[in-house]
Amino acid sequence: MSGEPSTDFGFERVSPADKARRVRGVFDSVARRYDLMNDLMSAGAHRLWKRFTLALANLRPGQRALDVAGGTGDLTLGLARQVGPRGFVILSDVNAAMLALGRDRLLDAGFARNVACVLADAEQLPFADATFDCITIGFGLRNVTDKAAALAAMRRVLKPGGQLLVLEFSQPRLPGLKPLYDAYSFRVLPLLGRLVAHDEASYRYLAESIRMHPDPETLLKMLEAAGLEGCRYHSLSGGIVAVHRGYRA
Ligand SMILES: C[S@@+](CC[C@H](N)C(=O)[O-])C[C@H]1O[C@@H](n2cnc3c(N)ncnc32)[C@H](O)[C@@H]1O
Repeated sequence: MSGEPSTDFGFERVSPADKARRVRGVFDSVARRYDLMNDLMSAGAHRLWKRFTLALANLRPGQRALDVAGGTGDLTLGLARQVGPRGFVILSDVNAAMLALGRDRLLDAGFARNVACVLADAEQLPFADATFDCITIGFGLRNVTDKAAALAAMRRVLKPGGQLLVLEFSQPRLPGLKPLYDAYSFRVLPLLGRLVAHDEASYRYLAESIRMHPDPETLLKMLEAAGLEGCRYHSLSGGIVAVHRGYRA
């Protein structure tokens, strides 16, 4: 193992290639039950967190947006409504099963002309420089192996003046919330995963990956290190979730 680079997959140390493979395995496994599990696990709160993120996006008709690691497309749908028929939104994800579910939902909601789906790794976005007015990444960055590379890629494809919004689990800050949150994440989530998605391990990974994700101040510095400006963040639900925002100058 000496000298071999390693990264976290939940609480385990693995090679970067192994992490990417195992993250793909998690989302292959949970894709079919993903939306139901989100509602169950968060008691619907993920909808409010996404609504808050979309309110920050506040796009105008005709603008262009990219939803990175967009999965089943909740944020994409909201962005598409904001930019309207003259605008354009791309849903991208590295996982074909998640992307297919997102594409079907967007088509069912009537967004065929101004939305496209692109299979892409957040670390290597296949778009021209300075393309988008806004980029969102919701509950995705935690799963990316090289977060600095992904942040740099997202900055590159933002237009000058465009904004990046990172919605991600964070660390509870309300006194007394942490022990409850820990018990919920390490006991209830894997149990729900077993009962509903027939996959306990993926939901244990979810709880572990949240603990391994950088705290909000560190993530803020990572956005700044990627060259984003005017960076700040909002803590939601007592710090369980944070939305970071930064602009390309
Ligand atoms: C927890 S889901 C979030 C989906 C959606 N954004 C939402 O908020 O409901 C995480 C998504 O990140 C995707 N993902 C993981 N690693 C990725 C990477 N390196 N590049 C792009 N997407 C990635 C997964 O395939 C999965 O669809």
